[in-house]
Amino acid sequence: MDEKKLMQTLRARLTDARLVHSVNVAESAHALAERWGADPEKAHWAGLAHDVCKCDSVDKMTNILTRAGYDFLDCERGNAKLLHAPAGATFLRESGLCADDDILDAVRYHTTGRAGMSLLEKVVFMADLVSADRDYPDVETVRQMTFSDLDGALNYALAFIKAQLERRGEAIHPNSVVRDED
Ligand SMILES: [Fe+2]
Ligand SMILES: [Fe+2]
Repeated sequence: MDEKKLMQTLRARLTDARLVHSVNVAESAHALAERWGADPEKAHWAGLAHDVCKCDSVDKMTNILTRAGYDFLDCERGNAKLLHAPAGATFLRESGLCADDDILDAVRYHTTGRAGMSLLEKVVFMADLVSADRDYPDVETVRQMTFSDLDGALNYALAFIKAQLERRGEAIHPNSVVRDED
């Protein structure tokens, strides 16, 4: 986990705004990890890296995943929002930037969540939603909730995201439908 090499990669691959977001998510993830007993270093690194493919074209993300033998779901094909997370995890592993499965899974599931999420996955998922650059109407409520009730915040966020996707008529990834109650 070479942070200097990661930062060089992020500077080359991300827009300035996306880089700022990534640094903010790393800070939030670090703080949440300390609050909930996850590994703060891994949380920080995963937060920095989570959107490494976010500025790639759909074709590029699709190629990264295809080369790695990824089994695409129908809802993922052509969907940049859904592809950038598994593409990011695959890119980080294939480029030799990260070999840590905990971190790679936190990146892989940062958009959809999944049933049985690890603590690190939850921390990175929520950090992405409450980072300093986020400014949706109830961000402050969600921010506070992440420090008082992480699972409650997660379920609240998943319900919110699901409602938003339904309103926009966008695909809901099957991973997001399953709630984790533990
Ligand atoms: Fe993302
Ligand atoms: Fe993000």
